[in-house]
Amino acid sequence: MNHQFRLASRPEGLPNRSAWNYTEEPVGEPRDGEVLVKVLYISLDPAMRGWMKEGRSYIPPVGIGEVMRALGAGRIIASKFPGLAVGDFVSGVFGVQEYAIVPGKAANKINAPATELPVHIGGLGMPGLTAYFGLLEVGRPEAGDTVVVSGAAGAVGSIVGQVAKIKGCTVVGIAGGAEKCKYLAEIGFDAAIDYKAEDVLAALRRHCTKGINVYFDNVGGEILDAALANLALKARVVICGAISQYNNTTPIKGPSNYLSLLVNRASMTGMVVTDYLPRAAEAVTVMAQWRKDGKLKTREHLVDGLETFPETLLMLFSGQNKGKLIIKVAGD
Ligand SMILES: NC(=O)c1ccc[n+]([C@@H]2O[C@H](COP(=O)([O-])OP(=O)(O)OC[C@H]3O[C@@H](n4cnc5c(N)ncnc54)[C@H](OP(=O)(O)O)[C@@H]3O)[C@@H](O)[C@H]2O)c1
Repeated sequence: MNHQFRLASRPEGLPNRSAWNYTEEPVGEPRDGEVLVKVLYISLDPAMRGWMKEGRSYIPPVGIGEVMRALGAGRIIASKFPGLAVGDFVSGVFGVQEYAIVPGKAANKINAPATELPVHIGGLGMPGLTAYFGLLEVGRPEAGDTVVVSGAAGAVGSIVGQVAKIKGCTVVGIAGGAEKCKYLAEIGFDAAIDYKAEDVLAALRRHCTKGINVYFDNVGGEILDAALANLALKARVVICGAISQYNNTTPIKGPSNYLSLLVNRASMTGMVVTDYLPRAAEAVTVMAQWRKDGKLKTREHLVDGLETFPETLLMLFSGQNKGKLIIKVAGD
């Protein structure tokens, strides 16, 4: 049998259990060109909150009654696609369920042992690509620049900061709590600001005496405003996400300090990782080598059991996740 979480309703605010239906159905048979994947790991991403909402976005919303969309990694257990064989590990959009049937061309083969699968949906997967291309292509840091990243201890933010260090920048991370700030020091950040305990505006002034050249925003809200107030001339602001706003029951509040872009001849640019998927292999090769050389650390936060999905998803919004949040569905 295949167990699944389906979207039951479009929640207002934080999604609780009533947003979901836990369902069961027999595992299907792949047709020509398809593969049957046993899902081993499910990636939990802040974007999932956006996919639950009606309205225009970069991807259609998940329909009511549909299996919740999710990235994941798993093992092929039946194949009618010539490029993939039983036993191959793959990643793809498999949904919040135990088994997925997908077109073979939509499953990406992972040439790594089973123990490495979480890294391939984390630091070397979608969040890693977001960090790599968002920083290097949109942020365009130069050696000597001051780079500030919010959500800094998370899946995307921790990679952004480390890549900026590799490129010779001074890196300041903003995260919630002393433990996360300590982790930022361990992975080489020059400074960390605990937004739950400090005045972010004052701390940015203290740490970025020449202003911020690149601000990589994962959280939006007041932290974005504080960064805008500290921009250097010709700064680049990368709008990657705005997690502080995703569960709003009132309209999203835009930044009030936006005229800093005018004063500083700065730019603010949105990015979506899917635009860079044709270049994924290039980034994964570079980042895997950095990881092998000990220059890039990844951290995964695994939670056991598909049935924990509704509560585990909420960890992203309370900040309980330490690193890339993943549900371990099965061992092999
Ligand atoms: N544009 C794209 O293509 C793309 C792709 C992937 C991800 N993203 C975005 O990147 C961001 C980070 O995603 P991720 O997967 O790396 O998640 P993550 O950082 O691993 O986890 C989310 C973190 O957000 C922080 N957070 C939650 N509520 C917050 C609030 N109200 N104010 C400030 N921080 C808050 C928490 O950290 P603290 O404990 O530090 O608060 C939490 O641990 C999200 O905004 C996501 O939507 C965008």
